Parts: sequence; C-alpha cells; structure tokens
Amino acid sequence: MDVSSKPKVLINRKLPEAIISYLNEHCECTVWDGEGVLPRPQLLEMIKDYEGLFVNNEQINAELLERAPKLRAVSSSSVGYNHFHIEDMKARGVIGTHTPYVLDDTVADLVFSLILSSARRVAELDAKVKQGKWQRGTLKEDEWFGMDVHHATIGIIGMGRIGEAIAKRAVHGFDMNLVYYNRSRKPEAEERYGAQFRSLEDVLKESDFVVLMTPLTPETVQYIRKEHFELMKPTAFFINASRGQTVDEQAMIEALQNGTIRGAGLDVFEQEPVSPDNPLLKLPNVVTLPHIGSATTKTRYDMAMLAAQNLVGALTGGKAYVVQEL
Ligand code: DGY
Repeated sequence: MDVSSKPKVLINRKLPEAIISYLNEHCECTVWDGEGVLPRPQLLEMIKDYEGLFVNNEQINAELLERAPKLRAVSSSSVGYNHFHIEDMKARGVIGTHTPYVLDDTVADLVFSLILSSARRVAELDAKVKQGKWQRGTLKEDEWFGMDVHHATIGIIGMGRIGEAIAKRAVHGFDMNLVYYNRSRKPEAEERYGAQFRSLEDVLKESDFVVLMTPLTPETVQYIRKEHFELMKPTAFFINASRGQTVDEQAMIEALQNGTIRGAGLDVFEQEPVSPDNPLLKLPNVVTLPHIGSATTKTRYDMAMLAAQNLVGALTGGKAYVVQEL
C-alpha cells in the first residue's frame, strides 16, 4: 500500500516495537512519545487530521468528536468501554472496538488475589510483620486470624467471560459453593461449574464472598447500594474488579465502617486514581489495588496487539471486535 493511501491514525501512548511495526504496515501512524498518555488538550487539538485513534481510557464524547471530522474508528485497549459515549459515536458514525477474551484469566487471577488477601488479611499482616509487631504470644485471634476461602460460598454478580473464569477457579481450585446472578441464566456455567442461579438479593444474602463483575452501563451506575450491603452477612467480603461507579461508594464505606460487612477487596474506585483522602484507604479491612486487573506484561501486550488489529480491521473493512452497541 502506498503511504498516501494508508489511513492516518493517532496512538495516544508508546507501544511495543512489534505493535508499532504492525500498525505502520497498514496505517500512517503518529505515536505520542511523551510521558504517560497524550494529554487531553493536545489530543483535542491533533484529532482533526486522523481517521483512527488508539486509546485505553479516554472519554470519546461530543467534545472530542466535534473536533474529529475525519475520525472513523476508535480502538480501546480494554474490555470495558464505558468511556465510549455510544450515542455521540453513533450520531457521527464512528466505530468503537475493544479487547475481549485476552484478559479473562488474568483478571480472574487478580480477583482471587483480592479474595485471598481480604480473607487472610495479607496486606494488613504484611504491614504488622514489617513493623516488628510479630512477637511470641502476640497472635491474637481478632487481630491476626482470617476466614477460610475453600468451601465457602462465592456469589458472582455478572457471569460473563471473566465471571466464568472466576467460577472455574472457585469450584475447581477452592471447592467453593457457587451462586450467581446475571441478566440471563448461563446454562454452560451451571453445567461446568455447578453454578446455581439466584436473584440478586439471594446472592447477597447467601455469599461469603460477593464478587461484582458487571460492566458499567447507564443501567448499572450505583447498582450496589446501601440496601444491598444490608442484605449481606456481617462476615462477608465484597470484591469489586469491574468499575467503581457500579457501587454507591459512600454506602460501601459506611457498611465497612459500621460492621455491616467484614471487609472488601477493591481494584476499582468511583474516582481514579483514588484520592489519598478517600476513607477507604484508612480502613484495615479493605485491600486496595490501582485498577490492575489486566496488568501483567503478557496480557497488556496481547491487549495492545488486539487493539492494533482491531483498529486496522475497522479502518480497512477487516475483522474487528466492534462493541455490541455500535
Ligand atoms: C478493562 O480492560 O476494561 C479492564 O478494566 C482493564 O483496564
């Protein structure tokens, strides 16, 4: 393909050499090579010249689209695409793509690390040991003992691909009893993992570990609220690796502070990066992570490569994982 006929694409951050070479074969690429991601004001200024855009967590809304008369496709290196403003994109005929499948096992592993570290107080006890607080006779039950994960009941809210990968680990690895809630029943998960379908309320009531995996959509904003925490067991843990806005964060903080639930493991927050003043960061019964569900070197590489292939596919009429609403 001669250079002038290749679509012009803007890549909002540095990518591994092999991915840039692949993109260069099919597109005329401009790659932001500053620190981090291309700052929004510069993106808004530059976007007018490009047909394709590579992002991970950038708001694709009217503000950007109005300045992008040539834009045809936006590829997000993420499975979640709540940063795509679907109606604005539809109105301008801009396609959006995402990266399903390649991160399922990696996110499921991370969910298990949150379950295990919450239940066995890993972060809290690590700090105690490092502070020299482990001395003979100091292992008091209320300060040092945790909860068993094996044979406990796990409740998965949102039995998509990642939910199923969590189910597999729970049942095959930890002999857990598995209940789930999903918009529609998942017969394969029921057959493969013995998953038992319940109402949302019953999942909350029965589970020792409630794992929220529902995607963020207009319908799931603050999906889990005060009344939901009140249904949970006082010994239960709440795990969120989906999006922070799917939970009423203030209600969660209160539930954790007043003993309505025992603890939480959180990879996501209402506002990210989380503010250092957020009360969640002061609670010993909360394990926090900086939204790293998919962040292993291999998986982030695979996601970026898939996002590059999606961008090329979307611009050239080839294969691409176009988000279902577009
Ligand atoms: C995703 O891909 O949506 C995950 O949250 C990781 O960023």
